[in-house]
Amino acid sequence: METQQEFTLEEIQKHTTLESLWIIINGNVYDVTSYADTHPGGIDVLLENAGKDATNEFLDIGHSQVAMDQLKELFIGVYKPTPNSSSNTTNNNNIQQPQQRPTQPPQQKESSVPILPIVIGAGAVVLGLAIAITRSITKK
Ligand code: HEM
Repeated sequence: METQQEFTLEEIQKHTTLESLWIIINGNVYDVTSYADTHPGGIDVLLENAGKDATNEFLDIGHSQVAMDQLKELFIGVYKPTPNSSSNTTNNNNIQQPQQRPTQPPQQKESSVPILPIVIGAGAVVLGLAIAITRSITKK
């Protein structure tokens, strides 16, 4: 098993220029230095997000599968948050939020008329009548 290299925000924040440009997406660190000048979205957006967590920005654009595949080639390691790293970033809160599940509507299956007892009662009456009639016929 390969061990993945871990980078702290402090380390990642040192790579914010075209000489060395790192970006965090989904907790992974990407070195986009070699890719920056061919990025279809331009160099500027990459520079704006350099040294930061750009997960939301990356996802908001709706990057294609091609972009996702390119990411794999630029991967250099994983982001290792430190206890005080989230409080002093300008671009925090990008950790994926758990999806909020809507609370299930209460299942209303009650009907106002109790049908089952009525059906059973009616059945019993019919059966009773049938037995009474059969007896009165057989007695003759
Ligand atoms: C870091 C790795 C990134 C890679 C490998 C990447 C790759 C790509 C690719 C391949 C495209 C062409 C369209 C597509 O196939 O989706 C694209 C477009 C674009 N990207 Fe990125 N991108 C990255 C990061 C970013 C970031 C951080 C932003 C910030 C906002 C950004 C903004 C854009 C924009 C604005 C376009 C143009 C979309 C359009 O014209 O419709 N990209 N990117």
